[in-house]
Amino acid sequence: MRKKVIAGNWKMNYNLHQSISFINQLKSEVVKKERNCDIIICPNFVSLSEAKKIIEDSPIKLGAQNIYFEDSGAFTGETSADMIKSAGCEYVILGHSERRTIFNESDELINKKIKQALKNDLLVIFCVGETLDERERGVTYEIVKNQIEQGLRDITAEEIQKIIIAYEPVWAIGTGRNATPEQAQEVHAFIRNLLRTAYGIQLADELIIQYGGSVKPDNAKDLLSQPDIDGALVGGACLKVDSFIGIIESC
Ligand code: 13P
Repeated sequence: MRKKVIAGNWKMNYNLHQSISFINQLKSEVVKKERNCDIIICPNFVSLSEAKKIIEDSPIKLGAQNIYFEDSGAFTGETSADMIKSAGCEYVILGHSERRTIFNESDELINKKIKQALKNDLLVIFCVGETLDERERGVTYEIVKNQIEQGLRDITAEEIQKIIIAYEPVWAIGTGRNATPEQAQEVHAFIRNLLRTAYGIQLADELIIQYGGSVKPDNAKDLLSQPDIDGALVGGACLKVDSFIGIIESC
């Protein structure tokens, strides 16, 4: 039985002081009772090490939103896998559609970043998903298959166990228009079949596939009750303690 994983992608929100205040509030709610899901927060780089201090004695885990694929050197503005590890991160989000579209990240670059994260013992949340235009043109499966195959190029059976796939249809991100549970389930099942072909049934059936895109407390339960939806990657609704806790409760 796969355990649900709820991750909050803060994107470019909250300065250091706001982050500290928010995480303290979140932690005090999270520790009130036993939770039957894994909880990850992914604040901005500036807030990571303070976040780690606050969540140390709680079940909340820490992730970053990006890394560069080189170890170190003249890459102005970039952050390495080793740096986020030293700040206390266990996870990193890679391949997010905002990185793909706004920052022109290619499948090839994302694949290099995934390998670099794994080399540094980080767990990866690897995002894929089609745009509205692609969905309307009926090429969703083709797009997702290509993103999975390119992003996971040369990833071994041992390594895939350190990767969570997040299916985030671009048209559902930040729009308030989530994929229906059935729409999401269809693509999740498709992704799991791709993983079965690549890594075998037993292994693929243990992998976590999260859904992301306008997840809210009022739609989380229906989404999370689908057989192949193993968690949520939450944007907007993870920035308020009430709504993030609401999603966690729906596990
Ligand atoms: P929203 O939940 O705001 O739609 O964002 C989803 C997302 O991009 C998480 O990575």
